[in-house]
Amino acid sequence: MTDKKVMRPQLWAPRSVEDTMAVYAEWAETYDQDVLARGYHTPDRIAAALKDHMKADTQILDFGCGTGIGAKALQRQGLTNLHGTDISAEMLEKAEACGIYDKIWLSQPGELSFGRGAYPVIVAAGVISLGAAPADLLGQLIAKLDTGNLLALSFNDPTLADNRYADALGTEVAKGRAEVVFREHGPHLDDVDMGSDIIILRRR
Ligand SMILES: C[S@@+](CC[C@H](N)C(=O)[O-])C[C@H]1O[C@@H](n2cnc3c(N)ncnc32)[C@H](O)[C@@H]1O
Repeated sequence: MTDKKVMRPQLWAPRSVEDTMAVYAEWAETYDQDVLARGYHTPDRIAAALKDHMKADTQILDFGCGTGIGAKALQRQGLTNLHGTDISAEMLEKAEACGIYDKIWLSQPGELSFGRGAYPVIVAAGVISLGAAPADLLGQLIAKLDTGNLLALSFNDPTLADNRYADALGTEVAKGRAEVVFREHGPHLDDVDMGSDIIILRRR
């Protein structure tokens, strides 16, 4: 049985890339079961918001796809043209097994091995986040978009409270590299009453 409140109490804390990879390597086997038991809403909220801003057959990259929970949420909204990547081989193995992604590959931390404009829509659910990828990933992903392309992401409450992430977003908008076309706060994880902002950015 899942011990909800004490499970991974340090999940939303800064950590090294090596520690992040170790966390997800160890968690991959039970990740889906754990987060679904806790009431994980962010992937469904991203998918629901995104479907109103894109055509259903547009190519999507699920960046930091983990085990593929995001793919299932996107599929429920009729968005099925999906590729996925993650830095955790163990998480990716689960994503591959879910059978939804047309293509899956292992990323190296901080290296984005696809060209600018390769993906008209990039989703990053819970990835640019305290305890996962650093705030500067936001600018790197925006740099991979062509004008008019979309990046849909989430910042959970601990991430919203960390100025580095808010500043990274503020800088991209202030520099005129992206505009916010959707932003809404709502439930992230029920068992710890945690919320998240769903944010959709359009590359300018
Ligand atoms: C909280 S999980 C979210 C997974 C999935 N998007 C979901 O909603 O279930 C964070 C994921 O980000 C991945 N990750 C962390 N740092 C990353 C980076 N620098 N580049 C790509 N993925 C990263 C982790 O391996 C992990 O699978």
